[in-house]
Amino acid sequence: MDRYIINGGRKLGGRLRVHGAKNAVLPIMAAAVLSGDRCSLYDCPDLSDVHHTIKILRTLGCSAELNGDILEINSDSINSWEIPEDLMREMRSSIIFLGAIAGKMGRVRLCAPGGCELGNRPIDLHLKALRQLGMEIREENGFIEAIADKMHSGDVHLSFPSVGATENIILAAVGLKGETTISNAAREPEITDMCDFLNKMGADIEGAGSENIRINGVAHLHGANHKIMPDRIVAATFMCAAMTTKSEIELLNVRSSHLGAIVSAFRDSGAKIEFFKDNMYIRAPEKARSIDMIKTQVYPGFPTDAQSPVMAALCFAEGTSVIVENIFDSRYKIIPELRKMGADILQDGRVAVIKGHDLCGAHIKAMDLRGGAALTVAALGASGQTVLNGVHYIDRGYVSLEKQLKSLGADIERI
Ligand code: EPZ
Repeated sequence: MDRYIINGGRKLGGRLRVHGAKNAVLPIMAAAVLSGDRCSLYDCPDLSDVHHTIKILRTLGCSAELNGDILEINSDSINSWEIPEDLMREMRSSIIFLGAIAGKMGRVRLCAPGGCELGNRPIDLHLKALRQLGMEIREENGFIEAIADKMHSGDVHLSFPSVGATENIILAAVGLKGETTISNAAREPEITDMCDFLNKMGADIEGAGSENIRINGVAHLHGANHKIMPDRIVAATFMCAAMTTKSEIELLNVRSSHLGAIVSAFRDSGAKIEFFKDNMYIRAPEKARSIDMIKTQVYPGFPTDAQSPVMAALCFAEGTSVIVENIFDSRYKIIPELRKMGADILQDGRVAVIKGHDLCGAHIKAMDLRGGAALTVAALGASGQTVLNGVHYIDRGYVSLEKQLKSLGADIERI
């Protein structure tokens, strides 16, 4: 297993382009199945989760090739409605294929994704909504078998604005005769990006990005080309790296409208942040101020995926900060690792209290994607050397994080 050797305490500088969003390209790759045609996705990030999803597309009989940052998919040869158990278990967000395969093939068989590093990852909201639209779903021995030939349009309400459930309903409904509405839908920008792509394919979806989405079923979809939106969590992660190393950097290919909660938090902490078109300039303060309270919420609230990297940044801030993680049950795995670096963090359930002061390098390990990115960010700001194990988690959501940080002047090696 690869690891990082990081010699912290160096300032960063320069500029970096933010790559396409993992959480947009994954549902868009599932959506491409519905086209039965050729689709080209531009600015597709070279991530292990993307390669895993390419394997799923090929298993279904589609062709999928990533050349540089262009992903070519052709789903005219799709000939299966089953996802093998090993592929499902490796990446729980593969559940997004449930709606897409059902929509295209009329039936689907896959295993329930089960839990992951972030705790229990139920799909009850997905199944409840799809059953309300007439999908016949059988759950047996951890497998899900669904028949979609009696599906019909209708109105569904989500008791919680689940991102994946919203995406699955849309993918299952785009071909259903009549109008399907989703109330209390998730509003994440990645859903809007997926709907923009589906509308280019000939779908008729309105309201993406709001809590009320309307899908007017269409009989035929076709291939489309699409540029994946920038990854707002990757942008937030590099902002955290600027904060822990007290640096000024420029980020290219960002959307200011996607970063409101993070920008507001770091301006409170003393950072100077400006936007010029699709670029951001951030200058961190020599001594960051603590942030009284950060509560993770659904979009446009503070994103749970940025919680760990921001916790790492707050370890260096003057004073006491409080974080409340409201979305996932188990997103504090990095606290014991940060304590090995000298962090002063108390945790009780969903609440973490961080008393900031400088950190020292240590031997630590990543245990999930965003936690790994957070520990990397902490190590950049810590004095001395850090050995970080488990960087394969980071490869799921960051393209060569070590190369990107090195281009900003960080002393980081991957071995
Ligand atoms: C998506 O996960 C993202 N993944 C996650 O990013 C992100 O953290 C999350 O949305 C929230 O923004 C992808 O887009 C591939 P949810 P998803 O359904 O769809 C509970 C990363 O690091 N829930 O909105 O799984 C669930 O347990 C990843 O890039 C139910 O109870 O998120 C969780 O507590 C991590 N029943 C909460 O809702 C359900 O049927 C949010 O889940 C579904 C979800």
